[in-house]
Amino acid sequence: SQYNIAVIVGSLRKDSFNRKLATALARLAPADFSFTQVRLDDLPLYNQDDDGQQAASVLRLKGEIKAAQGLLFVTPEYNRSMPGVLKNAIDHASRPYGQSAWAGKPAGVIGASVGAIGTAMAQQHLRNVLAYLDVPTLGQPEAFIHAKDGLFDADGGIGAGSREFLQGWVNQYVAWVKKHNT
Ligand code: FNR
Repeated sequence: SQYNIAVIVGSLRKDSFNRKLATALARLAPADFSFTQVRLDDLPLYNQDDDGQQAASVLRLKGEIKAAQGLLFVTPEYNRSMPGVLKNAIDHASRPYGQSAWAGKPAGVIGASVGAIGTAMAQQHLRNVLAYLDVPTLGQPEAFIHAKDGLFDADGGIGAGSREFLQGWVNQYVAWVKKHNT
């Protein structure tokens, strides 16, 4: 069977390291996995008054999450947490009450940062939110990626120094998604 993965990148920046990481990770997955980065940049700011009439962009996001066999969160760390852009998207797709798109979707959490502790705090906060939303997240291996020269090769793939580690991470992620789709 085919596994469609909704990729949620927590940065809107054009040259985002996390967007590049998401693209490069997809290339390490087997042929029965396809990855689509969902759009977050046209979502309104979440307002509970709109729960009864969610915007077209919100309904699109929810449809993409519901149709996916798995989720891949690739996020930077902003001020020791996840970016507001990401939390806004999570809140949107969790509502209205009882109609969350997230429940039961197996997920991987990973992130790249220019800071030395590489998104550890952001990932932990994100895991807390996903636990509440009943999203089973791959626990091991953890991956805190330091965005430094050589992370990517000239071709946009994972550079030689991190390729074996991230191939191992992707292999565990693939197994996690399959385990939750039997
Ligand atoms: C950052 N950055 C950052 N880095 C980190 O390791 N821990 C942090 O808490 C923060 N905080 C933070 C706040 C804000 C508002 C910005 C704009 C940046 C730096 C961050 O790692 C860097 O900008 C990355 O390049 C962001 O990821 P993308 O956009 O390249 O994917």
